[in-house]
Amino acid sequence: MNVTDAMNAVVILVAAGSGARLGAGMPKVLAPLCGEPLLAHALRGILGCGEVGRVIIVAPASHVGQCREVAAGYHRRGRGSVRVDIVTGGADRSASVEAGLAVLGPDDGIVLVHDVARCLAPSDLFARVISSVRAGHPAVVPGLPVTDTVKVVDGQGRVLDTPDRGTLRGIQTPQGFLREVLQSAHRQSRAVVTSATDDAGLVERAGGQVRVVAGDHRALKITSPVDLIVATALLQGGSYAG
Ligand code: CTP
Ligand code: MG
Repeated sequence: MNVTDAMNAVVILVAAGSGARLGAGMPKVLAPLCGEPLLAHALRGILGCGEVGRVIIVAPASHVGQCREVAAGYHRRGRGSVRVDIVTGGADRSASVEAGLAVLGPDDGIVLVHDVARCLAPSDLFARVISSVRAGHPAVVPGLPVTDTVKVVDGQGRVLDTPDRGTLRGIQTPQGFLREVLQSAHRQSRAVVTSATDDAGLVERAGGQVRVVAGDHRALKITSPVDLIVATALLQGGSYAG
């Protein structure tokens, strides 16, 4: 038996952002999408993956109670065997990830970090990332081929470089790690990085190898109101199967 087979897989769901660009008048985690808060959609995808043993929701300090209520509804719907905890987030995304890392237990050997903003990430995407970590990759991210041409520019808008698009991937969450790899990358980054949007980037900076697995278009990031329109279309068009 592989040593990772015995490890519990935990999802840290970072959901403590304010959702300023979405402008829903409430934190993004509670913003409605087809009548349900983003948190409910995210939990459906996460809890639909049988490999996930625990979920840690990192909630905005102002809305912990409301997040707890949403999560309790999911707990009752037959997923009682999965432990769901709620902790309060920090001032930026990294601080929120660290709030989740701080409550890990000794058996929580595989950690996935997932943005509630990608609330339609399907269950099989979680399974794919977890199985790649179990197969021996200590840091795994889902990625999709980039369809736009991407240019590197300077502060004045001058183009410095046009990387070969075939080598580029748009990176999503959930990002999966052996727990000690992620914790050590966060420890090392504290001194130099102010706010990371990507946990795998911290592992890279710490000298670690990161593996890309196939992403999923349903794991789109809901940032602005237009993204809610796309997410609504995905849900209503039946292309989302959980
Ligand atoms: N996040 C967090 N804690 C923070 C900031 C962000 O947990 N202090 C989370 C968000 O909840 C989100 C993810 O990090 O799931 C990515 O952040 P983003 O998409 O920027 O969401 P918000 O910060 O909520 O949005 P905005 O930047 O428009 O306010
Ligand atoms: Mg933000």
